[in-house]
Amino acid sequence: MSLEVQIAGINFPNPFILASGPPTANGSMIKAGFDAGWGGAVLKTVAHAPTPMPSPRVHVLGAGRQPRGMVNLELFTDISIERWKRELDMVRKAHPERPIIVSVIGGGAPEEWWKSMRELEPCGISAYELNVSCPNISGKKGAQLGQDPESVARVTAWAKQGTSLPIFVKLTPNVGDIVAIARAAQEGGADAVVATNTLSGLAGIDLETFSPLPAVRGYGMLGGYSGPAIKPVALRCNANIARVLDITLIGCGGISTWQDALEFVAVGASALQLCTAVMWHGYEIIHALLRGVEGYLQSHGYASLLEVRGKALPNMLSDYFQLDLVSKMLAVVDAQKCNGCGLCVKACDSGGYQAIRMEADRAAVDALRCDGCGLCPGICPVHAIEMVMR
Ligand SMILES: Cc1cc2nc3c(=O)[nH]c(=O)nc-3n(C[C@H](O)[C@H](O)[C@H](O)COP(=O)(O)O)c2cc1C
Repeated sequence: MSLEVQIAGINFPNPFILASGPPTANGSMIKAGFDAGWGGAVLKTVAHAPTPMPSPRVHVLGAGRQPRGMVNLELFTDISIERWKRELDMVRKAHPERPIIVSVIGGGAPEEWWKSMRELEPCGISAYELNVSCPNISGKKGAQLGQDPESVARVTAWAKQGTSLPIFVKLTPNVGDIVAIARAAQEGGADAVVATNTLSGLAGIDLETFSPLPAVRGYGMLGGYSGPAIKPVALRCNANIARVLDITLIGCGGISTWQDALEFVAVGASALQLCTAVMWHGYEIIHALLRGVEGYLQSHGYASLLEVRGKALPNMLSDYFQLDLVSKMLAVVDAQKCNGCGLCVKACDSGGYQAIRMEADRAAVDALRCDGCGLCPGICPVHAIEMVMR
């Protein structure tokens, strides 16, 4: 089955694109990603000059057990445009057809955007992605610029004037109204929007030194939060945009499984970008992503991803009172599976309706008390509880 997708006239052999970040930090890494089977790649954002970076610059939350997120203090590429030209030449020779997108950053003057674009345009690239979403840069650039619809429309229009290649605009989730920003990008002429970049976050505080994490010789700052923990935010941004605007969407933020990917497609995304999952699990995760998506499409009788795109949107309500507030569900414990840990009892006592008790070392639900809130199945470590209609 072909998973090919077309975006702004560009053919991607599959919808999985390496997002701008460490996995696309140089040509050999992009080539390794393409060798593994990624459908495209966005260069680590190219600024006019290589950017120095602190060490350490990432802090993984939940490391070693089940990582759930990561805060980074990265800025842009640490290699020169001259070196990028050589690196891209090498990638092109190895993978002549695979789309390469150049992520660029600028500020309040068109020349700032055009400079890197002009330099890299002859390198066989397919599109540009405007970084109006990096939360780590101060001044009116990155996420600060990307919070203002007028500025987003203006820089998108400048970028369009500077090239005939498609322009993708990568949005920040750190805004009140993501639709207003996506609309501004569309008005500026964007061919697609990428939703989203990292959330602004503070990974933690070292309680011995009171240094924010990651701590660079005792000091730290807010960084960009990525990984599975931000998926609900990124998914919400995609759904909000797709419900209102007719613009090509590329989903990004917390995708690490084929199911995540299909969920973004179901709320309107045409392609997906991944960064943190690749950093944690390697380029080879592309095999599981492709196998999973293909298997799902085949087993559900869909001929292509297009048939899944936006399928969840009609089921999304926007008014709480449109929900069925009358019918109730009931938690049911499978005594064979229950391991008697009692976590559901604690959860129901303090977060529910005091409806679960231990009987002969197994959880038992009092149907009269249970209000069907749905907390206990999510807490049960052995999946022994399910919700059924009353
Ligand atoms: C260490 C790190 C560096 C990143 N650098 C960039 C960058 O240079 N330009 C950019 O547009 N996004 C950058 N990102 C953001 C990612 O491309 C992506 O939008 C974000 O991490 C959310 O996706 P994920 O949860 O799959 O990582 C970076 C992310 C991480 C974790």
